[in-house]
Amino acid sequence: MERLATTYLGMELKNPIIVGSSPLTSSLDKLKKCEDAGAGAVVVKSIFEEQIDHDAAKMISQSEGFVVHADGQDFLEEVSRDYYIDAYLSLVDKATEALDIPVIASVNCRTRGSWLDYVQRFAEVGADALELNYYTLPSDFNRSAQDIEEEYLAVVQEARNRFKLPLSVKMGSQFTALANVIKKFDTMGVDGLVLFNRFYQPDIDIEKLATKSSIVLSGPNDYAQSLQWTALVSAYLNCDICASTGIHSGESLIKLLLSGAKAVQVCSAVMKGGHKVIGDMLQTLSAWMDRHNADSFVDFRGKLAHKRMEDPSQWERAQYMKSLNVEF
Ligand SMILES: Cc1cc2nc3c(=O)[nH]c(=O)nc-3n(C[C@H](O)[C@H](O)[C@H](O)COP(=O)(O)O)c2cc1C
Repeated sequence: MERLATTYLGMELKNPIIVGSSPLTSSLDKLKKCEDAGAGAVVVKSIFEEQIDHDAAKMISQSEGFVVHADGQDFLEEVSRDYYIDAYLSLVDKATEALDIPVIASVNCRTRGSWLDYVQRFAEVGADALELNYYTLPSDFNRSAQDIEEEYLAVVQEARNRFKLPLSVKMGSQFTALANVIKKFDTMGVDGLVLFNRFYQPDIDIEKLATKSSIVLSGPNDYAQSLQWTALVSAYLNCDICASTGIHSGESLIKLLLSGAKAVQVCSAVMKGGHKVIGDMLQTLSAWMDRHNADSFVDFRGKLAHKRMEDPSQWERAQYMKSLNVEF
């Protein structure tokens, strides 16, 4: 299926389906399974800054006898931190050896912390690119939007300065001036933006009167926001757009490509339907290309992006109008 080939972050992908960072990509066997199912690339399950800190703290709290010694706490923090990082780097290392498709490492971070010190190590173990998943819940009453954005931009800028290979930012959509933030990432030289991450949201168990996990998997109609924003920004940027969230079928994949995405990430669709979903989606794409006499992607990618349309106003609509022809 060479005609399905695309480029993303300067890498050659045999097709535009990337299995996103998730339990589907947390071990070598699982990564290999994604490749065998036909994925064009994989993003390894993230290493979490939060997880590293938590485990360091736990080890320290269980080792009171040890930490009374001078430097004991520092030592344990380092040992714990290195343990998880080394395990992660080893997974990335083995994956890049074993897989023929690009392997993208992923860091989930929430501060401008020590993870930045080892960011170049992902490149050293052979990761083809790094995806940065930075997010803090804007729940602090005393922090302004500007404050939060400046911090976000500073973190990405620092990662950009330190990491010499392709870098992408997997972002959420909750910014007051989303296009402006996207443009700033583009200007600072990130190679790609993943639009959008889907964050965990707690729910309530009304019988136990307690919080509980909400549904974590997306549904097949959840691609709309990614579609709109890919269309709105893709043709105005230097960096690549990778669409993410709610892409469950070949049809939604085609829509995202028409709106200008270079690639898409899938998780929930594979978690629900199994790895064969990847092949099904590629087949739908291929059949669609046949029907439209498209020899390759370039023939149609971004055809319906905002910049390329004679009347792009549909992409800008935010409010419903009575002319929607729906009767209730
Ligand atoms: C159980 C689960 C674990 C996930 N873990 C990560 C993670 O470690 N890092 C990350 O960047 N995204 C993670 N995600 C988010 C997915 O990569 C993806 O962005 C999200 O599920 C939306 O895509 P989808 O609609 O195809 O599922 C996770 C998603 C799920 C459901």
